[in-house]
Amino acid sequence: MIDKNVANSYNQDAAQWVERLRSGNNPAHRFLEKPAMFGKLPDLTGQSVFCVGCGSAEEIGMLQAKGAQHIHAIDISESLIQVARETYPSVQFDVRSMEERQPFQDGAFDFIYSSLTLHYAASWLQILCEMRRLLKPGGRMLFSTHHPVKWGSEVTRGGDLDMFRMGYERPVGRPPTVFGDYLGTRRILDQWFGSMTVEYYHRPLEPIFRDILDAGFLLLDFLEPRPTPEAETEAPSFWAIHSRIPLFMIFELGNP
Ligand SMILES: C[S@@+](CC[C@H](N)C(=O)[O-])C[C@H]1O[C@@H](n2cnc3c(N)ncnc32)[C@H](O)[C@@H]1O
Repeated sequence: MIDKNVANSYNQDAAQWVERLRSGNNPAHRFLEKPAMFGKLPDLTGQSVFCVGCGSAEEIGMLQAKGAQHIHAIDISESLIQVARETYPSVQFDVRSMEERQPFQDGAFDFIYSSLTLHYAASWLQILCEMRRLLKPGGRMLFSTHHPVKWGSEVTRGGDLDMFRMGYERPVGRPPTVFGDYLGTRRILDQWFGSMTVEYYHRPLEPIFRDILDAGFLLLDFLEPRPTPEAETEAPSFWAIHSRIPLFMIFELGNP
C-alpha cells in the first residue's frame, strides 16, 4: 500500500528535491550520508542489487561504480521514478512501496541498498522479513535512516529559528520542562527547506534493533557518520552541529 501523503510530498516537490541534490545544495547528503554509505559498499561486481526508496536515483552511480550490473530499484514517488528512468535508462525502476510483497523469487538478490527511506514506514518487521527473503544466503543489506537522537527532539522551524531540543530543565522545587520524546514512537509532520511538507516516523533504537533481530538478520556493522572534513569550510553550520549531534545512522545486515 502506498502512503499517499508521503508519495504526494515527493511528487509535488520532485523538481525542487532533485535540483537540491544535484546542485550539491544538500549538505546532509553531500557531506554525510552519501560518502558514508559509499564507504560501506562492498565490491558488487556481477552482483544483483535491489535498491529500496531510490528516489531520483542519486545512489545508482555509486552502486554501478562498485560494479553492480543488475540493479532493480523501487520508490513510491512516480515523479522521482520518472527522473530516475531518464537518468539511468538501463536500470529497471518501478513505482512500488517497500511495504508490499516484491515480485521476485526467494534469494533473488545479492545485495539490498536503501538510503534514508525506512523511517517512512509505520512498522519495519514485515519489510525487513521481506528483504531477508529476497537475499541470497550470505547476502547483505545496507541501509541508512534518521538517527533518533536528533529526530526525537522537540523541533521548532520557521521564522528566524531552527531549533532541535532533547533534554530537560528542572528548577529546584518546580516541575521539570521536558524537550523532545526519544522513547515515543510517533509519526511526525515536518517541513523541509521552508516549503516541503514531509511525514515520517520517529522510532527509538530498541524497536529498531528488535525488528532487525526478529527478522533473523545478523547485525554486521552500525555507524553514526560524521560530516566529511570539507564540510567544515563549505557548510560550517552543518559541520558545527553534526560533528557533535548525529543526523543519520547506518546498518549493515547479513542474511545468515
Ligand atoms: C529522503 S528520500 C531518499 C531518496 C534516495 N534514496 C536518495 O538518497 O537520494 C526518501 C525516498 O523514500 C521514498 N519512499 C518513502 N516511503 C516509501 C515506501 N513506503 N516505499 C518505497 N519508497 C518510499 C520517497 O518517495 C523518497 O524518494
